[in-house]
Amino acid sequence: MGNIKVALLGFGTVGEGVYQVIQTHQQRLESLLGKKVEVVGILVQDDSKQRAIDKGILLSSDIDQIINIPELEVVVEAIVGVEPGYSYVTKILKKGIHVITANKELLAHKGAELRKIANEYNARLEYEAAVAGGIPVISTLKHLLRLNSVVKIEAILNGTSNYILTDIREKQSSFHEALLLAQQNGYAEADPSNDIDGWDAFYKLMIISDLLFGSQPDWKDIPHKGIRHVEAAHIEAAKSIGYRIKHVATLENINGLIYASIEPILVSKEHALYSVEGVNNSIIITGDVVGELSLQGPGAGSFPTASAIIEDLVNIYKLNDEKLVTDDVSFASKNINQQQEWL
Ligand code: NDP
Ligand code: HSE
Repeated sequence: MGNIKVALLGFGTVGEGVYQVIQTHQQRLESLLGKKVEVVGILVQDDSKQRAIDKGILLSSDIDQIINIPELEVVVEAIVGVEPGYSYVTKILKKGIHVITANKELLAHKGAELRKIANEYNARLEYEAAVAGGIPVISTLKHLLRLNSVVKIEAILNGTSNYILTDIREKQSSFHEALLLAQQNGYAEADPSNDIDGWDAFYKLMIISDLLFGSQPDWKDIPHKGIRHVEAAHIEAAKSIGYRIKHVATLENINGLIYASIEPILVSKEHALYSVEGVNNSIIITGDVVGELSLQGPGAGSFPTASAIIEDLVNIYKLNDEKLVTDDVSFASKNINQQQEWL
């Protein structure tokens, strides 16, 4: 009985975290899956750089070398941006190899197309880590959707922004000092504009919209602001009246139309997002049957993200025969129609 052969695209904060957790949790994985998980290849940009990896692992900057590894079963995609991720993931799925991706920018732009390819080639495309780091948002929503119509989401979805806002308020750091710390901790993207201009939260919200409703609102209709222009004086002024500034993403189905917004807002002590601090994210979900529930936890960082990726890996094998209804976009469309009837 062979090992489960896995390749990693990217060996940065996320890729290296996944590699390490596979090593440290090998026994647990083997007892769950009945097989060892073996990292057989790693794609990087600069293959001359020294990496802390076992001998025998193929380290390459050539995607074809990685994809052509014999008996490769799963690829973890943790590189940055729509391209080259889109071309790579397309190629991989077309070989029937499962993909687990942490790349929200890729999914927000190309998720629907990639899901279609995955279905056509009988491969799985999983993405728990792409939304809110270590918090099991995607699997929770999939479970809720078995019965509920989800009518509203209110969330903090960017760890870097929340970290910066918290640090400025609590430690009187400057914006740039706080951002530097978020980068050093591996929370911020290499180019942090997506974090501080609100794009990262925007992409995550669009992934949630795809899952819940099978579509996204028109991007140009979405009010969208980041925290780049939030100053210490604004945070102090909010504090002086008992409020906090939080970067909040909202998604709502009102009479069958989907509304979304992403912006820094004032929240009072009574608001469930008031006490979400540091790198934490939180998501408040309103379902028609369950009512309101919330999840909170680390929204970024190496190990929380690796945790979500490895949950996906286990699910591919544990849930292989159980096709979740929500993997089917037509189910999501039914969901929005049903919500329309019930509103
Ligand atoms: P890093 O910048 O730390 O690492 C990126 C890795 O990708 C590096 O190993 C880099 O190679 C490799 N890479 C980049 N471009 C290419 C390319 N064109 N071809 C081959 N390899 C490439 O990023 P993160 O690990 O932080 O993030 C990876 C992905 O995961 C992103 O999409 C991010 O949005 C997402 N994500 C990040 C989280 C986090 O907390 N950091 C949490 C959840 C998702 P090299 O090492 O040679 O430079
Ligand atoms: N840069 C992202 C954040 C990483 O700060 O939330 C997690 O997706």
